[in-house]
Amino acid sequence: MGRATVRLDPAFTVGPVRPRTFGSFVEHMGRCVYTGIYEPGHPEADELGFRSDVAALVRELGVTTVRYPGGNFVSNYRWEDGIGPKADRPTQLDLAWRSVETNQVGTDDFVDWARGVGVEPMMAVNLGTRGVQEAIDLLLYCNAETGTSWPDLRAKHGHHEPHDVRVWCLGNEMDGPWQMGHKTAEEYARVAEETARAMRRVDPGLELVACGSSNRGMPTFGTWERVVLERCFDLVDHISAHAYYEPVDGDVDSFLASGEDMHRFIESVVATADHVAAVKGSDKRITVSFDEWNVWFQERFHGENSLEIREAPELIEDVYDVTDAVVVGSLLITLLQHTDRVAMACQAQLVNVIAPIATRPGGGAWRQTIFHPFALTAQHARGTVLRPAVACDTIDTSAYGPVDQVVVTATHDPDTGDLAVFVVNRSRTEAAELVLDVADAVGAGPTAYTLVEHLALHDDDTSATNTEANPDRVTPRPGDASVDGPTLTATLPPTSWHCIRLTEGTVR
Ligand code: AHR
Repeated sequence: MGRATVRLDPAFTVGPVRPRTFGSFVEHMGRCVYTGIYEPGHPEADELGFRSDVAALVRELGVTTVRYPGGNFVSNYRWEDGIGPKADRPTQLDLAWRSVETNQVGTDDFVDWARGVGVEPMMAVNLGTRGVQEAIDLLLYCNAETGTSWPDLRAKHGHHEPHDVRVWCLGNEMDGPWQMGHKTAEEYARVAEETARAMRRVDPGLELVACGSSNRGMPTFGTWERVVLERCFDLVDHISAHAYYEPVDGDVDSFLASGEDMHRFIESVVATADHVAAVKGSDKRITVSFDEWNVWFQERFHGENSLEIREAPELIEDVYDVTDAVVVGSLLITLLQHTDRVAMACQAQLVNVIAPIATRPGGGAWRQTIFHPFALTAQHARGTVLRPAVACDTIDTSAYGPVDQVVVTATHDPDTGDLAVFVVNRSRTEAAELVLDVADAVGAGPTAYTLVEHLALHDDDTSATNTEANPDRVTPRPGDASVDGPTLTATLPPTSWHCIRLTEGTVR
């Protein structure tokens, strides 16, 4: 058994836990919207047609912000098709996913759903097939006070009060040739600049996200970010990053180290943004909106052109196992480790489409394995992210070279005294003993800690999954952590994720 020695010190912090780190994503894709969040006629449907069983799981997941309506979909979306009386809305062909789009859910419906489940809506504008005018029309429709035509139309549709959407994405993955209206960096930078300028004329306080690269492997990665930010630096707050992970050619060791890729990705984007700041002589710090991330078995997807045109098709409904959940837990650790420069993140997507929540049309809704690390991290990461000092063995990976066997982050909430430690053992074969020195974690002395709970996600069968018939096959179970004076010890089985909670004083 390996050993991981971890020291926490309140002097070593990364930054505040940001609620928006626990964002998600609802795209008009596959069955995310239709038979996902929305299914009129379902026994659990509410008066608006939204599934209340799904809404309950979304609340339990702890999602804070939800990006909408795409994704690739947004780059050919006419938002006007999705407003007004449902019977009058046109059915369209969505070219992004070669799907029939009925427009029975649109902007007002999504905002109603978001407010109902208690999440913040985050919207994207179409800068693929459309441009500045349509973006400001949508912004006016959503956020302006009544008195002019677009907000008056919103009021006519039953929403007198503005939706007050604060965060807006300036398009989606515009560097990708698969995108409707794909652009070069220069073309995108120009339209993003003009759109951002116009949107700020409507509301200077918006938070705007410029498109970064679709992934770190894009041939224009780095250059794209530089060119876009050189033009848009003063007009935007965030630059997007997207990353999906899978065991490429069966390389599970590298897959378990996906957080290393995400770490390098964030560092590169931050360095590029700060380079632009340096050249401009600016102290402004652009932050990263990691607004698509997850495990996605892209090797199983044969491209948009292979899709048969249908309504709400079953698209990329990956079924996740224990290893996938451990990877998702480790990616959340990476996001928290970068809370100083990652302002928000959206796991993609929320329901059915590479998602923590799965549904059957007319049937049940259940938690995939990846639901659990997300829910527990969202629930317990509070206060300040600490920067632990970790000493452990390394694992050789073909994708990233040697990486730490054990990855750790911790949060401390000074208001409650709660300390939450999130840990992953990336080894597929070796357990590790975690030895955590909590003496200095919050500067309160060695006897001041009580173990509240240790939950672990692992299984002797790492390929185990949850299904509608057996929805709790994989759930977090109690771990063996114990505290002796200033030291916490716990066993970390191979391929495992952990949430260990302590508090100052006695358990409340
Ligand atoms: O989440 C699925 C797709 O992945 C999104 O539509 C797109 O933005 C990304 O390439």
